[in-house]
Amino acid sequence: MINVFQPSLGAEELAAVGRVFASNWLGKGKLTGRFEAAFAGHLGVRREQLRSANSCSEGLFLSVKLVGAGLGDEVVMPSISFVASANAAVSRGARPVFCDVDPRTLNATAETIAACLTPKTKAVLLLHYGGLPADMDPILELLRPRGIALIEDSACSVASVYRGRACGTMGDIGVWSFDPAKILVTGDGGMVYARDEELASRAERELYLGLGSQSGFSNTSATRWWEFEVACDGRRGITNDISSAIGLEQLAKLPGFLERRRQVDEFYRRELAAIDWLVPRPEVPADCRSSYYFYWIQVAGEGRRDRLAAHLKERGIYTTFRYHPLHRVVYYGHSGQALSDTERVADETLLLPLHQALSDSDLDQILDGVRSFNA
Ligand SMILES: Cc1ncc(COP(=O)(O)O)c(C=O)c1O
Repeated sequence: MINVFQPSLGAEELAAVGRVFASNWLGKGKLTGRFEAAFAGHLGVRREQLRSANSCSEGLFLSVKLVGAGLGDEVVMPSISFVASANAAVSRGARPVFCDVDPRTLNATAETIAACLTPKTKAVLLLHYGGLPADMDPILELLRPRGIALIEDSACSVASVYRGRACGTMGDIGVWSFDPAKILVTGDGGMVYARDEELASRAERELYLGLGSQSGFSNTSATRWWEFEVACDGRRGITNDISSAIGLEQLAKLPGFLERRRQVDEFYRRELAAIDWLVPRPEVPADCRSSYYFYWIQVAGEGRRDRLAAHLKERGIYTTFRYHPLHRVVYYGHSGQALSDTERVADETLLLPLHQALSDSDLDQILDGVRSFNA
């Protein structure tokens, strides 16, 4: 079966993990510090603005807490978001409010967000769908004068750039994922950016049980180095040096991964253009860079997308749709406006395999699979 997502790990990652074993320091240590610094360099932000986490989901839960969303507040997010975004709002007693998306990019826009703002809106939590940057300037212009916090879920956009700014660094807080289905993987892991360095320091405390003072090895006092203070009700969201060692190797390989992904994207763009029953992914605007995380096509017609997915699966090609719209999830009790574009694209959009390990013969097999579909 050709996977829709797949990591690329090699001898370099294995050797790096071997060195961690040999050092006998498996927990959060020097390598995690190096990974944080290297990732800050990759994004072009100050190292003090960045903290590692054990997952992006943990980062999302933390972000909603850091912006102070609580009981009675609303957090606006595209309905096509990862499930952790809504759970993060609910966990603080806030209400997730789902907005519509642009039917081609599947990103929220200033217009779809504006339609959901109320005096109760505390924050907007958006993602850059499949690595294609959302149109951020109008969104920032909408939110800044109103004092509404902006959280960017940059799980899809590890290397995406919007008009010279790295995705994830344009709002108040940004979060990244290094889980096994992402481009840069560490097993599990994440990163949290806060524009305000003090907020980033708070993030660090929150990510380690709210410990307000150093204890153990990092406490240099001559006696009772095991004592500590607690500053807040933080959880345990830290990562470790095994993951960070993998992350450092993956970061070095990222430009190569992106180049192969761009080639795959270009192949689909070129070869699928002639097929009249599908609409290919929209172009990346000239002033933006994508991470090429998803390649999506859209297929109109009752049940046609689902039939295509089944047809490809029978031919050994796994496809999927991300993200099942959250306004359809009963638990969240969506009672807001009808989200007509979301409804439509959720039934018409399909993600084709896109990862750096795809071979040219995999691509030919996928193309044959699509072409042989009796639309
Ligand atoms: C858009 C998006 N946000 C957040 C997450 C959560 O990432 P993690 O698995 O690191 O918790 C994912 C994971 O699939 C995602 O796709």
